[in-house]
Amino acid sequence: MNNAPLQGIKVIDFTEVQSGPSCTQMLAWLGAEVIKIERPGVGDATRKELQFDPDLPSYYFLQLNSDKKSLALDAKTPDGKAILTKLIKEADVFIENLHPGAMDKLGFSWEEVHKLNPKCIYGTIKGFPLSSRFKDLKAYEPIAQVTAAAASTTGWYEGEYNIPTQSGAALGDSNTGMHLTIGILAALMQREHTGEGSYVYQSMHNACLNLCRIKTRDQLTLDRIGYLTQFPQYPDQKFGDFVPRAGNMEGSGVLGWTYKCKGWETDPNAYVYVILQRGAKDFELACKGLGFEDWLTNPDFNTADARDRHKQEIYKRIESFTIDKDKMEVVKLLSPYGIPCGPVLSTKEIMSDESLYDGNTLVKINQGGKIGEFVTVGCPFTISNYQPVYGPCPELGGNTEEVLTSLGYTAEEQAQFKANGTTAPLPKEAEK
Ligand SMILES: CC(C)(COP(=O)(O)OP(=O)(O)OC[C@H]1O[C@@H](n2cnc3c(N)ncnc32)[C@H](O)[C@@H]1OP(=O)(O)O)[C@@H](O)C(=O)NCCC(=O)NCCS
Repeated sequence: MNNAPLQGIKVIDFTEVQSGPSCTQMLAWLGAEVIKIERPGVGDATRKELQFDPDLPSYYFLQLNSDKKSLALDAKTPDGKAILTKLIKEADVFIENLHPGAMDKLGFSWEEVHKLNPKCIYGTIKGFPLSSRFKDLKAYEPIAQVTAAAASTTGWYEGEYNIPTQSGAALGDSNTGMHLTIGILAALMQREHTGEGSYVYQSMHNACLNLCRIKTRDQLTLDRIGYLTQFPQYPDQKFGDFVPRAGNMEGSGVLGWTYKCKGWETDPNAYVYVILQRGAKDFELACKGLGFEDWLTNPDFNTADARDRHKQEIYKRIESFTIDKDKMEVVKLLSPYGIPCGPVLSTKEIMSDESLYDGNTLVKINQGGKIGEFVTVGCPFTISNYQPVYGPCPELGGNTEEVLTSLGYTAEEQAQFKANGTTAPLPKEAEK
């Protein structure tokens, strides 16, 4: 019944921070054996970033590394290279996200790994596509967002806050990990036919740009006609030659906006999003729900094109409906009329919604020890005959002995690896 889709697939996870680990965590949740390579005594940088206790791994690390094994390994020592070589020879997938050129320097580029194990799929994350003038740059989340049209098109469109703005969603990091996951799964399917592993190159730029497709659509339209009817700037303000920021507009053809609700003066999330669809029937129902039936006979509002030209009046009037009502009440009142709407929810509201603890949406992982239970976002899709089991995160090097023993290394050899800095920090480093 519980058929893990990736059962029997071995992944060597040479990734850290967020982009790579989000991919390998997904692979682990789908049933792959994921062996995370971490520098002895150092580990994934996120272990010590944003900690809630200086002696414990941060939630940042915990939320991205559950169900993996940790092998402490310095891949720069001769023994480290030999161990990694052995691991690669029996791996199905090797994934890395080091800075450009680092893997070549270590001697484990795609070409080298392919020679070692032609069946092994090689996944890599970098900031930019190989064709880009930025291909050699290191990259973090905001770098991906500012260079892929996300930041230039997000935020307010006038006044002092008219500045490029980042999305709170990890478009450059976890989104890249999910894109790489798609590539890895495709390569696994492909290997079924070809018998050979392939190279999956995923840039943060391309993952982010893929989610900004509608902004490239807007650029094409702007280039042709010089204006964008769905934008709040239309029809009164001038458009330049690039897609501007659009505040809270919906993004496609329907007319949507974020409206203040009761309590907005003190609660920054007392808002609701309401959409007016373009179809005549939908609009008629919406007018009924809002009590604005006069719009049905008013030529300024009774067609979708007219509404595009009068959206500022629409924003004002809908807000007069929502402003004295609780955001949940607005949804309750409008949704029976088929009006697409939703409350703006804070992280607190979401994480305290018991209905979301359904086994996948939000999950509680028991890490044990001083950490105990923590909440994370589970596998975002469900599979009818498979339920992931959400296990704890490994301690740094917690599975070193197990992995080395499975590779055939004796206790004496393992003691030597520890002593020469391959699987444990050298005494000098440990003192630092
Ligand atoms: C995230 C990033 C900016 C960090 O850069 P960084 O601080 O230089 O850290 P890296 O992990 O890439 O590499 C640091 C060094 O550790 C080394 N290293 C990492 N793991 C190692 C291991 N297990 N054994 C030996 N050396 C190791 C690397 O080889 C590198 O050595 P070098 O500088 O001599 O080449 C960079 O890795 C990057 O741009 N990655 C691609 C995009 C990406 O995924 N960004 C993160 C988004 S969440």
